[in-house]
Amino acid sequence: MTSRYRVEYSLKSHRRDGLIEWIKGLLATPFVLYAVKSNGISSVDELMTNSEARRRYAEVFHDLEVLIQDHIEMASAGTPNLSRLCQLVPSVGVFFTKLPLEKAYYIEDERRSISKRRLVAPSFNDIRLILNTAQILQLATNFHSARHQHEKLQLVTFDGDITLYDDGRNLDPDSPLLPYLLQLLEKGLYIGIVTAAGYKEPEKYYGRLAGLIDGIKTSKKLTDAQRENLLVMGGEANYLYRYQNDAGMLVTVPRDQWVLETMNGWDQDDIQSVLDYAESGLNNYIQKLSVEAVVIRKERGVGIVAKPGHKLIREQLEELVLRIDRNLRQYPAAQKINWCAFNGGSDVWVDIGDKSLGVRALQEFLRVNDGKDIKAASTLHVGDQFSSIGANDYASRTAATTSWISSPMETKNLLVDLNNYLENTANY
Ligand code: IMP
Ligand code: MG
Repeated sequence: MTSRYRVEYSLKSHRRDGLIEWIKGLLATPFVLYAVKSNGISSVDELMTNSEARRRYAEVFHDLEVLIQDHIEMASAGTPNLSRLCQLVPSVGVFFTKLPLEKAYYIEDERRSISKRRLVAPSFNDIRLILNTAQILQLATNFHSARHQHEKLQLVTFDGDITLYDDGRNLDPDSPLLPYLLQLLEKGLYIGIVTAAGYKEPEKYYGRLAGLIDGIKTSKKLTDAQRENLLVMGGEANYLYRYQNDAGMLVTVPRDQWVLETMNGWDQDDIQSVLDYAESGLNNYIQKLSVEAVVIRKERGVGIVAKPGHKLIREQLEELVLRIDRNLRQYPAAQKINWCAFNGGSDVWVDIGDKSLGVRALQEFLRVNDGKDIKAASTLHVGDQFSSIGANDYASRTAATTSWISSPMETKNLLVDLNNYLENTANY
């Protein structure tokens, strides 16, 4: 029993999100109470049960809204750890905006029949999507509110694989996301692609993002200034590119124009030492675990990919990333710099830097270069990797508001809603 407990709650805790799991628990009570009569339920009974369940769930989300608001206030007073929410969910992070969860619940309930379900309880995905909807509702509200102009949405950043395209694929001209990405640019927003994919040449990103880049180039609706609002941060926080009208493509932004002070302070020897250590660790583990993979070393990252004709299974990838992550946490040079280790779905990588630095570097670059004041509350990062260990979008939570999606189709749905809400307050 002890070891079973340990496996479930301790070793797998990185795959659970504390806040979402806790909300799931709160919703379980009304769900159980409304799993009423086993037989002979009339259609009127059913209507009444649905509306009771709907009301009860909505109340939970309303109360959560208040708890989050209180947590925000405690955080701004410098004591987030003393908030009631933090006492209930110790792993809870920062909220840069309040979250209209009750309203978001009603929207998602219509789509997902949450309150009409009697056999399937409100799930992780239901709650994840309610949180996403609440986040973009609030971003849109601030966008339209005169009082919140200082934290108006200005920058939307996207992860690449799984978020904009399927794993290992590219953003092609026929991508269903393309029209909605262009609509964000038409509204004067900046788009940043903040991806782990680390290439030193802008042409390589053209290979991955050709649909978007050509779409921007040929758009009749975008102004020249809006076209230049596309930026790409590659290798988590290692290479910056920007679309430039004259060139008609992505061009390299010299490192000294965007690198953050903290990153500039890193010792090159520590960086090399972390990469060497990660490389030998990965080599060691693919031997020990008999994984059919090869190690790839880059300037600012090291990873393993399957040998041709082989596929790595999820359990192998996870074992590798957890082991390498744990080793690095104990390695002295790794404590002096930022890095991230993640399971990319078919590979494992250790990169220097992380997406929190990537997003922050974009915000800072746009402040210095374009004179924009872009705060965390005016930034939204959309990604698929938000588990607390072995996932590289997680770090962005300290630099931006976030939406956790699980497929490019979900990103499309989110973009449809976001564009809608930003266009008109009557749409939400
Ligand atoms: P993301 O989802 O856009 O962050 O991209 C993650 C994927 O990029 C990884 O799973 C890898 O397949 C790929 N990739 C290519 N180069 C690198 C690199 O230098 N570091 C990490 N991932 C890389
Ligand atoms: Mg991804």
